Amino acid sequence: MQKKACVITFGCQQNEADSEKIRGMLQNIGYQIITADMTEDMTKQRGQFVEKSGLSECSLIIMNTCAVREHAELKAFSRTGQLKHYKKNNKDLRIGISGCMVEQDHVIEYIKRSFPYVDFVFGTRELHKVPEILDRVVTTGKRVLERIPDLPDANEIPEDLPVLRDSSFQAKVSVMYGCDNFCSYCVVPYVRGRERSRGKDKIIAEVRELAESGYKDIMLLGQNVNSYKDPADNDYKFVDLLTDLLKIKGDYLLRFLTSHPKDVPDELLTLMGENKKLARHFHLPVQAGSDRILELMNRKYTRGYYLDLITRLKSLDPDIAVTSDIIVGFPGETEQEFEQTLELIKAVEFDNIFPFIYSKRKGTPAEAMDDNVTRKEKTDRFERLVKAQNDIVIAKNKALEGKTVRVLVESEYKNRGEGWLAGRTSQYKLVAFERSADAGAGLIGSFVNVRINEGKLHGLYGELIT
Ligand code: 5AD
Ligand code: SF4
Repeated sequence: MQKKACVITFGCQQNEADSEKIRGMLQNIGYQIITADMTEDMTKQRGQFVEKSGLSECSLIIMNTCAVREHAELKAFSRTGQLKHYKKNNKDLRIGISGCMVEQDHVIEYIKRSFPYVDFVFGTRELHKVPEILDRVVTTGKRVLERIPDLPDANEIPEDLPVLRDSSFQAKVSVMYGCDNFCSYCVVPYVRGRERSRGKDKIIAEVRELAESGYKDIMLLGQNVNSYKDPADNDYKFVDLLTDLLKIKGDYLLRFLTSHPKDVPDELLTLMGENKKLARHFHLPVQAGSDRILELMNRKYTRGYYLDLITRLKSLDPDIAVTSDIIVGFPGETEQEFEQTLELIKAVEFDNIFPFIYSKRKGTPAEAMDDNVTRKEKTDRFERLVKAQNDIVIAKNKALEGKTVRVLVESEYKNRGEGWLAGRTSQYKLVAFERSADAGAGLIGSFVNVRINEGKLHGLYGELIT
């Protein structure tokens, strides 16, 4: 019988893309890949784990973890704790932990001490070593918990790894890895290492293949895509890459994530304005609205610069949706400084924000900063921020009522009962619509036009236009 493996992902799109590669490699060495989300598939009843997924049939479970906030780490540890039960029932089960968390020495020590049933770890720069590490664990019967030291050329990016993609119409393509920005709160530069870019030819070939095989939504990924430069030609920048990619024929949208506001050249704005094959969505994390906090965060731009950037972007095409990440409760953030963040989100009218409460991360400069904002103040600010943004989203979505939008259909939409489908617009807004009798689930993976009848907080609802 074929052995089964499951890779559970925590965190960002980059991690999801890494998981697709891990699954591809595991499939290549003979595993059948199953998908399971432990949050949904395992419930604890009367102290017993009741398992609803196929996890107990797996001979390999890998948790691909995130370290960006403490909450993500605690969640991964808690899930790891649950795996003890599986190991007890299946002695042949191997358990691995990968991703950003295990790039930290204190986490490795904690795993050594507290999770004796974890067999191996591997970091974000060692994905390609999974088959080798696994083979070592199986043949020696020993745990592999020491991190493989950085290779002599840590900048080298292993190419041509097999990928088992989650979707047949939406694809993630990593263009660069790592980050050199060292925002003072952020652990990413330490766990993902220095910036390094893939060769342009490899990226162009991958995107061409995706477009030719019918992918409709192609997302270019990197911690800071705007820092992209071809390793063989440092004058070849992100805009050059986009320009070349846009020449690839096909009815698809090209997206990119994430951009640092300090690195948005005019050429990129112009390209965004001109070429509608680029999704009408720009994720530009501002993080805070006060110049003093931005400086403490080491973001290298001011509130004024950011607002001007958004004005320039909107003047090129007001249809471009702008989203942002916001941190509240950064060490020393005063009430007035928080209010500046509130004012900024109201001024920009973001299409969506991802709000976070500041989380202290080991080894970052902000760890040493005096954090006198109380827990209560932080949660209070968080709630006020969410409330203000919700009002903006509702107003924006309401304004779309009566309009027709183009939607890439993603899935069935169960929340409104049978016969509903859901998808996303070029702006990445969620649209649910009732399908007509003759247009069934076969629409998934294709573009359709939908007239919006209702604009709500969590999405747009409409009807199919045929
Ligand atoms: N605490 C809270 N949020 C953080 N982020 C990064 N580091 C932290 C931290 N220590 C947020 C930033 C970033 C997003 C991916 O996560 O807003 O843009
Ligand atoms: Fe972290 Fe800043 Fe790099 Fe983003 S740009 S990954 S927030 S250090």
